[in-house]
Amino acid sequence: MKLTGKLLLLSLCCILTILFGCNEEKVYKIGVSQCSQDDWRMKMNDEIQREIMYHEDATVEIRSADDNSLKQIDDIHYFVKNGFDIIIVSPNESATLTPVIKEVYDKGIPVIIFDRNIDGDSYTARIGADDEGLGKAAAHFALSVTGSNPKAIEVYGLRGSTPAEGRHEGFVTEFTANGGNIIACATANWKKEEALPAVDSLLRIYQDIDVIFAHNDRMAIGASEAAHDLGRDNIKIIGIDAAPEIGIKAVADSVIDATFLYPTEGHRVIKTALAILKGEPFDRVTIMPASSAVDISNADILLRQNETLEEETDKIIILKKRIDDYWAQYATQKSLFYACIAIILLLFGVVFLILRVYWQHKRHREVLLKQNHELESQRDQLAEQRDQLQELNSRLEDATQSKLMFFTNVSHDLRTPLTLIAEPVAQLASAQNLTASQHVLIKIADKNVRILQRLINQILDFRKYENGKLNLHLTEVDFRQTVNDWTESFVQLARKRDIKLRLETPEGNNPVNIAIDVEKMERVFFNLVSNAFKYTRDNGSITISYAISNGRLTLRVADTGEGISERDLGNIFDRFYQVDRIHPKGSGIGLSLAKAFVELHGGTIEVESEINKGSVFIVTLPVVHVADTSQTVDKQIGASAVEAELDSIEGDSEFGSDKPLVLVVDDNRDIREMVGELLSSEYNVITAGNGSEGVRKAAKYVPDLVICDVMMPVMDGLECCRRLKQEPVTSHIPVLMLTACSLDEQRVQGYDNGADGYLSKPFSTDVLKSRIASLIRNRRIIKDLWQNSVIPSGAASMKKTDEKNKGKQPQGRDLPSKDIENEFYARFLKIFQEDMGDPETTVDSLASKMGLERTQFYRKIKAITNYSPAELIRNLRLKKARSLVTGSEKSISEIGYEVGFSTPAYFTKCYREAYGETPTETRQKLGASQA
Ligand code: FRU
Repeated sequence: MKLTGKLLLLSLCCILTILFGCNEEKVYKIGVSQCSQDDWRMKMNDEIQREIMYHEDATVEIRSADDNSLKQIDDIHYFVKNGFDIIIVSPNESATLTPVIKEVYDKGIPVIIFDRNIDGDSYTARIGADDEGLGKAAAHFALSVTGSNPKAIEVYGLRGSTPAEGRHEGFVTEFTANGGNIIACATANWKKEEALPAVDSLLRIYQDIDVIFAHNDRMAIGASEAAHDLGRDNIKIIGIDAAPEIGIKAVADSVIDATFLYPTEGHRVIKTALAILKGEPFDRVTIMPASSAVDISNADILLRQNETLEEETDKIIILKKRIDDYWAQYATQKSLFYACIAIILLLFGVVFLILRVYWQHKRHREVLLKQNHELESQRDQLAEQRDQLQELNSRLEDATQSKLMFFTNVSHDLRTPLTLIAEPVAQLASAQNLTASQHVLIKIADKNVRILQRLINQILDFRKYENGKLNLHLTEVDFRQTVNDWTESFVQLARKRDIKLRLETPEGNNPVNIAIDVEKMERVFFNLVSNAFKYTRDNGSITISYAISNGRLTLRVADTGEGISERDLGNIFDRFYQVDRIHPKGSGIGLSLAKAFVELHGGTIEVESEINKGSVFIVTLPVVHVADTSQTVDKQIGASAVEAELDSIEGDSEFGSDKPLVLVVDDNRDIREMVGELLSSEYNVITAGNGSEGVRKAAKYVPDLVICDVMMPVMDGLECCRRLKQEPVTSHIPVLMLTACSLDEQRVQGYDNGADGYLSKPFSTDVLKSRIASLIRNRRIIKDLWQNSVIPSGAASMKKTDEKNKGKQPQGRDLPSKDIENEFYARFLKIFQEDMGDPETTVDSLASKMGLERTQFYRKIKAITNYSPAELIRNLRLKKARSLVTGSEKSISEIGYEVGFSTPAYFTKCYREAYGETPTETRQKLGASQA
């Protein structure tokens, strides 16, 4: 349901609740416990019911105990249990009912005692009559209608009920005081049936009775009937209650002689109850006074008045009923009215919803129409854009074609001069009269000319393929033999790089015949296997396998190299696509050309790869046969071609110790060889093919300088430089970055990683040599400065500062404060000071405690202090000894042993060499100067 619908429903509910919801006004529950059920009580109950009609906030329930006190106790409990707000009780017997009424009152439930009373005053209010006064009034009347000393019979109500006791008390007191005699007394429990026989018996006994006083009219009528039956109509009979239908009528009919009004007061009882419940003021005790007698003189009129009253009351009741009916009608009409309003509102709501849906629908249609228009105009625009794109595309295609054309033309143009260069270079390479160095350089030139020729051929072939001008020259060959030959070319390289190269062939020695363009398939094979070597680390493995099934030959080249990412897999056969743009390992044309050659054969080429696991290239060719087996194609790929294409790790030749050692780190073998060759006259040169190898070799040989390319596979130059500067063994070595990148940002990056200099490729030999010399010289100046600040000085033989460099400041970094070297030296000093007293302490033992090999330790100590470790140890011992000679009382031989000399004589000899005097002479001079 939509929001509007919900709101509508909610508002409707609210309206209905407001309209029909009952006013939650408190309705009081009033319980009335009558002790008996008779005419007097009926009258009272009528009054109660009539009164309650005027109070809509109250209900009443009347229970009668039928003169049974125990039943009355149950009735009171019933009211309590059912949560009545107030209990009105007319207790049958005071003694029996008092405890339960007290209990209820003590609970806090309001209690009204009416008519009969209880013992004590455990009630909220009491409404009663002056029973004693009534007794007295009856006595007066009796005396007035009889002669002197009249004789009377008293008919008693219920003994133990307060009206009976009060009436008896009043009558006896008044009657006897005025000469009357009460001859006998009968107990009739307020009932006519009991009064009649009791009075009958007494009248039979007492013949001269003048008057009978009964405590109520019913008993009085019983007594009258008994007297009448015995022919004793002269006896005056008096009763109490004066209820119109019974007592007054009996008087009017001369059945009894007089009665006295005992007021029922039903309306007063209810009014008092509601005043109590509503907290309004009320009289706690109301006692009605005794009235004058109703006798034959006023009974009729009273009866008539009562009748009129009854009639009026009936009319009032009828009126009240009508009013109630009107109210009920009014309520129904009101409900109907509100129901109509609700329905009208609902209808409005429904109409509103319908209109809303209609509006929405209309708006929606308008929006759709608008969107439709927009879509149409967009479609037009798109069509326009598509046309523009097509035009752009064709222009781009034209531009690409022109570029490729240019590329092809340039390649064509380059081919001739390259051939002209290649031939003389090849001849020069085979000349006998070259020096070793010239031979190396010309070999490099020869190899690179061939690489250039191959690249140009690839470009031209690819163009031919794209233009559909590349032809296939199929020749029937034994694939087994052919692949054997091709694989052979890679064996040497595999051995050098410790790569497991396997060739898995179909079982047996039978020839595997197939017609292929041998030259092209050889290049496919060469490309795939070369790639496998390029991307497989040393100690990896490359597996070549092939098989024929279902008329197709499948050749697989699998490696355990670094693998190709999913992103690259989809593009790997695209023209000029390079997997690693930062460290390209080729022109990016090889694989696309391989694909072209395979497709020319009607075959397919695919690749499967997983990062860090390796790649498998799968070539599938249809097996076809031709008659032509005559054309033999010379194998193009020899071990030399492989070497020309792929670098191998060359061994470091032994180097003498007289020249500074330079480590050249570059992934291009030619650059390494060329730089090596250029520097060989002045330096010992070792090389490494990538950063990782560079770090390893630098730690092993501790060279005087590292020349490092920036972009390299495995570990680049920046990382290599950072590692060198972090390692305590290599931290002091100056690093010269050699790179094709001349961007300032990259230089900053280099310097951030600790590089000491930059040289952009291509560089001139002279600049390279001068930068190397300058860095090594600077390092020496730094070494001297460092030596002066860290090494204890004072010995003549310790001053080995390069005189040439005196006064010069080191360029670049302020190394004397360099942490790593200070730390290294501090660690060395700590270890040495612990072992100084031991003459067995050797350079070897110190190197191993520093965690270094002997040569590493030697070169590092030499590099930073300019002393060999042995010299440094001896000088430190002498320095310590001199401080003991001048600053302690110890004997000379004691000092000699303490600083680690094996004999006092050897100590004295070394001391004199260092300081130009014996220790004893130092002491004597010191003594003399102090004296
Ligand atoms: C009614 C009645 C009256 C009498 C009153 C005394 O039950 O018997 O006739 O006056 O009770 O409580």
